[in-house]
Amino acid sequence: MKKSIGIDKLEVGMFMEADVKEGAKGGGGKNNVLLAGKGFLITSENQIKRLREAGMQNVTIDTSKGKDSGSAVAIQAPKPIVMPREPRKKPLPEGRKVEYKDELKKARATRNVVQKQLKSALADAAIGGSMDRTKLDAAGKLITDSVFRNVDAMVGLTRLKEHDPYTANHCINVCVITLAVAFADGVDQSTAEMLATATLLHDIGKTKVPLEILNKPGRFEPHELEEMRKHTTYGRDVLMDMPGVTEEMMLIATQHHEMLNGEGYPNHLAGEEIHRFGQMTAVADVYDALTSARVYKPALPPHFALGKIYSNRNIEFREDLVNLFVKALGLYPVGSLVQLNTNEIAVVCEPNPGNTLQPKVGVFVTRYKKLRTVPFVVDLADPNPSEERKIVKVMDPTKYNIDVEKFMKMCTG
Ligand SMILES: [Fe+2]
Ligand SMILES: [Fe+2]
Repeated sequence: MKKSIGIDKLEVGMFMEADVKEGAKGGGGKNNVLLAGKGFLITSENQIKRLREAGMQNVTIDTSKGKDSGSAVAIQAPKPIVMPREPRKKPLPEGRKVEYKDELKKARATRNVVQKQLKSALADAAIGGSMDRTKLDAAGKLITDSVFRNVDAMVGLTRLKEHDPYTANHCINVCVITLAVAFADGVDQSTAEMLATATLLHDIGKTKVPLEILNKPGRFEPHELEEMRKHTTYGRDVLMDMPGVTEEMMLIATQHHEMLNGEGYPNHLAGEEIHRFGQMTAVADVYDALTSARVYKPALPPHFALGKIYSNRNIEFREDLVNLFVKALGLYPVGSLVQLNTNEIAVVCEPNPGNTLQPKVGVFVTRYKKLRTVPFVVDLADPNPSEERKIVKVMDPTKYNIDVEKFMKMCTG
């Protein structure tokens, strides 16, 4: 029940109605702001004092929500606050020590640090200076540590493409993907660290290729192609002058364009003649090149690049390494644009390790073809989904003019 009472009758425990601006007319003026709202429970003498100061003379109280005037209605004890139960944490997927999202933040920072180190090392090498091996090893260790905490985070970031003359980003991507394959192969951490430094430097020989060839926007003339291909042997030469470089590191520089069928370069090695790490780097190198845009070709969506590599198993690449590669990246790598059975369109934003067919996706186009401002993330492997969803088609973002990376970032934060 509502009733009007004088301000002097107002007591702690009464519920005051919101219509207080009326009451404050000619009184508090600018203090009215104090009184706006949907009404409130008077809980202290101080509130009453402030209402008086605001010029209130009469107020309306609601006795159904608080104490009545002149009565001894007790203030209802507030209901105990029940803390929401912590959502039960799912166990981490096999081989992952931290959550994907948690590692992603660290992986981004790591990538930025490594990028700076590598750019400066490549620039030093380009002018014939010596590279700081300690810094390169430290950069390789940072990436390896991230991969060993949660490999999927660093791999996810390889979708973010940039181009620079000495291809620092390409080298980081090749490093991460090679490490992901090596990790799936069960490599130990110290070998992984060696692999990291080696793959960061796999194209170091490009610093010896004349810039007009290196930066040529179009396809190469035969003599230019020949020079460009020499970056493999140039790489070996550069590394030879570096202290503490192992034979395996030099093999990665020279063999990362060799193919299983002997049609690679520079030495047309075939089969077992190619070191396992050389082949791992070759798979990663081709994948990054296929998924990167060039002046003369658009970027191939990750799923299609994966398919191309898969169809070349036992031809250009060892089958067991291709299988490890698919295991490491998932059948729908992060950044893939997919259509669901619900007609929604989504971007793959997180893999489900051990379940290459059912990643986590961010839905950003509804079944009614409406663009969502914020994508909502669905785990396709959820055993109790609100609605059954599965991938029915992989789409080419260039055909739909969709900025996949933008949506990827929105999903992963
Ligand atoms: Fe290369
Ligand atoms: Fe490369």
